Amino acid sequence: MSVELKSAAALDVMRESGRINAEVRALLIEAVRPGVTGIELDTLAKQAIAERGAQPTFVGYAPGGKPPYPGAICYSVNEQLVHGIPNSRALKEGDIVSIDLGVTYEGYVTDAAVTVGVGSVSDKALELMQTTEQSLWAGIEAARAGNRLGDISHAIGSCAKHYGIVRGYGGHGVGRQMHMEPHIPNYGRAGTGIRLQAGMVLALEPMFAVGDPDTEEISDGWTVVMSDGKLSAHFEETVAITGDGPEVLTRIA
Ligand code: MF3
Ligand code: CO
Repeated sequence: MSVELKSAAALDVMRESGRINAEVRALLIEAVRPGVTGIELDTLAKQAIAERGAQPTFVGYAPGGKPPYPGAICYSVNEQLVHGIPNSRALKEGDIVSIDLGVTYEGYVTDAAVTVGVGSVSDKALELMQTTEQSLWAGIEAARAGNRLGDISHAIGSCAKHYGIVRGYGGHGVGRQMHMEPHIPNYGRAGTGIRLQAGMVLALEPMFAVGDPDTEEISDGWTVVMSDGKLSAHFEETVAITGDGPEVLTRIA
């Protein structure tokens, strides 16, 4: 289960972790332009996290025998869905790139991602990004004590319109570790699943595709791509369920 924030102090540390995550993501978004490489963005992220007294959660992450993840960010361009490894290929005008960032501050993790356009992008790409981001905020609205997990999944999935909903990946609990229970599918039935309670912290991360939602992992052991080679988008925020409703810990000011 996700961290159960029993004390106000733990929530405050999660808030600080989220604030750092948002600040660093804002710097990264500003740095995205034609010609920039994933390695440059990753270096910027590592510096900015260190300057803030925090650690990059993803570096060295190696679940279930996978090769240790090398980056502070995941950097996934166009048909790459998630977990792309930063490389030295330059971004070009019209690309869309998902930048996913994990920050650990005093032992508490926040996880958040945004997909941004490089220079001006096609209407098709813009619409995909907007719809995916809207579904994230619909999911956040449903992250309320007394609701069920399926209410979040249903809220996200209901926004997908004609897009393919990726089934193999989803959101998760977050707290002392990055990936905690429960797994949160981006589709589902309202009124089903575990009951949500104040103190739970969840990373919601919708992933929608222009084409078929099937994915595969490439030979680097990490990068997940769309099997049909078509565009995909990914957004993520870390959300605390409080007595006053959802609090988005990683929100960019
Ligand atoms: N937000 C991504 C996820 O929950 C972060 C993955 S980090 C990696 O899957 F190190 F595993 F790539
Ligand atoms: Co995540």
